[in-house]
This record gives sequence, structure tokens and C-alpha cells, in this order.
Amino acid sequence: MGKILLGFILALILIPVGGFIYLRFGHPPVAVSDPAFPHEKQIVHIALNARIDREMPKAAPFGTSEEVFETGARVYHAQCSACHGSLGVNSDFG
Ligand code: HEC
Repeated sequence: MGKILLGFILALILIPVGGFIYLRFGHPPVAVSDPAFPHEKQIVHIALNARIDREMPKAAPFGTSEEVFETGARVYHAQCSACHGSLGVNSDFG
């Protein structure tokens, strides 16, 4: 029982100390030009998707007719496609 407690206390000390040493000396990716952290996209998308699920309107706000879809496509093409890309044209953001 004493060894388990000692191991638990050691873990409580070593995990934050190891984390600090990694952040201070381990060159974690913090610059925009750095490669992504391992599994960064998947990890960030957990929180992003949870928020989108929470805040997304439950019904289509403008209806679902062909006219609405075409208008949306025009708005997307004019205001979003420069960064997000369009059919057959990649963006920088993937
Ligand atoms: C000036 C560039 C720019 C423009 C213009 C732009 N965006 Fe973005 N958008 C970004 C960037 C950068 C991100 C973050 C990308 C990421 O997280 O991978 C983003 C993220 C998003 C996301 C979340 C994507 C995800 O991965 O879940 C949505 C949704 C979005 N934009 C919609 C739009 C819409 C709709 C428009 C047009 C009305 C638009 N954006 C215009 C740059 C732009």
C-alpha cells in the first residue's frame, strides 16, 4: 500500500515537472511555420465540433430551396472561396 501511495505521489510530481521540461527545452511547435502537434487536428476538432453542435441552428434558417442553395453558393464564392477554396481548387487551410 505504501509503495502505491509513493508511486502516486511521485507521478503527481513528475508529470508537471516533465511537462515543464518539455515546454522549456523540448521545442514544442508554437510558430505558425512549425509542423502541427501530433493529432492536433483531431484534438482541436473535438472541441470545435462540440461547440458547433451546441450553437448550430437546428433548422435551416433560410429554407432548403434550389434558389437558397444557389444564393448561398454565390455568397460562398464571393466571400469565402479565396481562403477556403472552391471545387477543384485547394485552399491553404486544407
Ligand atoms: C481571410 C480568409 C478567410 C475567409 C475570407 C473566410 N474564412 Fe473561414 N476560416 C479561415 C481560417 C484561417 C479558418 C481556420 C481554419 C482551420 O481551423 O483549419 C476558418 C475556419 C472556418 C470554419 C471552421 C472550419 C472547420 O474546420 O470546422 C468555417 C465553418 C468557416 N471558416 C466558414 C467561413 C465562411 C462561411 C466564410 C465566408 C462567409 C469564410 N469562412 C471566409 C479563413 C477565412
